[in-house]
Amino acid sequence: MKAPYLRCATCGMELPATSPRADCPCGGLLDVRHDRAETGPVLRARFDRRRRDGDPSVQGSGVWRFRELLLLGRGPTFTHPEGNTPLYRRDAVARWVGHGDLALKHEGENPTGSFKDRGMTVAVTQAVRAGATAVACASTGNTSASMAAYAAQAGLPALVFVPAGKVAAGKLAQALAYGARTLLVRGDFDACLRLVREASEALGIALLNSINPWRIEGQKTIVWELLQQRGWDPPDWIVVPAGNLGNTAAFGKALREAREQGLLRRVPRVASVQAAGASPFYRSFRGGFRRRYRVRAETVATAIRIGDPASHDRAVRTIRETRGLVTAVSDREILEAKAVVDAAGIGCEPASAAAVAGARRLVREGMIGRRDSVVAILTGHVLKDPGVVMEFHSRAGRHRNPPVAIEGRLSEVEELLKRR
Ligand code: F0G
Repeated sequence: MKAPYLRCATCGMELPATSPRADCPCGGLLDVRHDRAETGPVLRARFDRRRRDGDPSVQGSGVWRFRELLLLGRGPTFTHPEGNTPLYRRDAVARWVGHGDLALKHEGENPTGSFKDRGMTVAVTQAVRAGATAVACASTGNTSASMAAYAAQAGLPALVFVPAGKVAAGKLAQALAYGARTLLVRGDFDACLRLVREASEALGIALLNSINPWRIEGQKTIVWELLQQRGWDPPDWIVVPAGNLGNTAAFGKALREAREQGLLRRVPRVASVQAAGASPFYRSFRGGFRRRYRVRAETVATAIRIGDPASHDRAVRTIRETRGLVTAVSDREILEAKAVVDAAGIGCEPASAAAVAGARRLVREGMIGRRDSVVAILTGHVLKDPGVVMEFHSRAGRHRNPPVAIEGRLSEVEELLKRR
């Protein structure tokens, strides 16, 4: 089997997999290409056996289980391990969405609390194999938390660019705790990404944002693992929150390769959900993808507060190839969805709740049919953004659950129980 290689989606130039570059010199994005000798049934049996038997060479990682379709070759593998996230079903959430066949794949239950770990284990592993001496990223918080953790494991210095005042407390705390040099940039995420692209090029630092093709490789395993959990019976819809569009891009690549490889007969449709205040991709979708938009982004879901998504072109391909959809939901819908997911005992961060709010919207609009099976991706853990939770429950509203201060007498407790 030939080793994977890189190919520019814009100019077609090919580079070896060991190239330290995250993007093409022409400015286009690189894709990892695989030449494979094995057939779908052989691979599927091997992936299933590894899942069953624990795959000790990679500590049971739910990413590296699929290594033939990610990154093979010599060198160390930096796994936490990650993946193996649950598929939840909860009646309360299904009722709120108005759809019986709804499962939630909780990527917030990865080691650093978000799906980013799946891409980061592959990107850091490849960066080390390509000889990187330092790594960098721009982030709305989760990418930086994940990169900081994996860089620490690999013994690499990490440099993080985040928008000042717009990163949830849990995420910023993680970047600091794991030891990344953290720069609070006066500007939004889009400004951070421009700066880190410039800085990594000028200073020879490996760039680990999702423009890095190895991030996409790792994130493909969200889809493959969920197919595997369903016995390779695909759902009708996969609903995912969308910001910089790395995940939407990764899902399309995962489904394309699964089909080419004979792992899958029917391709699920991908629905990407943006926050209404940060919805350039939705706008583009409504115009038949004839134009790409850049907007000034604002939303309570700071993870997806992005106005100029880097993986736009790759994501368009996903929506086209899967006959998918893009929708947008208000901050109000996001917070209500979050309250419902939280109160079901699962919990997620605001951006993740956008997927659940989006599923509800698509059900109400009749885009998701009555009998369709739906998997929504919860991308981040409830503890990522404690600020939003405290603020939500201190305000008036239907799902409110404020704390109660007492002096510390038993009678007060009795009184409270009676009132319930
Ligand atoms: N959900 C969460 C929790 C995220 O952190 C992100 C992106 C997304 C959804 C959107 O995914 O960008 O692939 O479309 N967070 C990035 C970060 C931008 O820096 O952590 P996307």
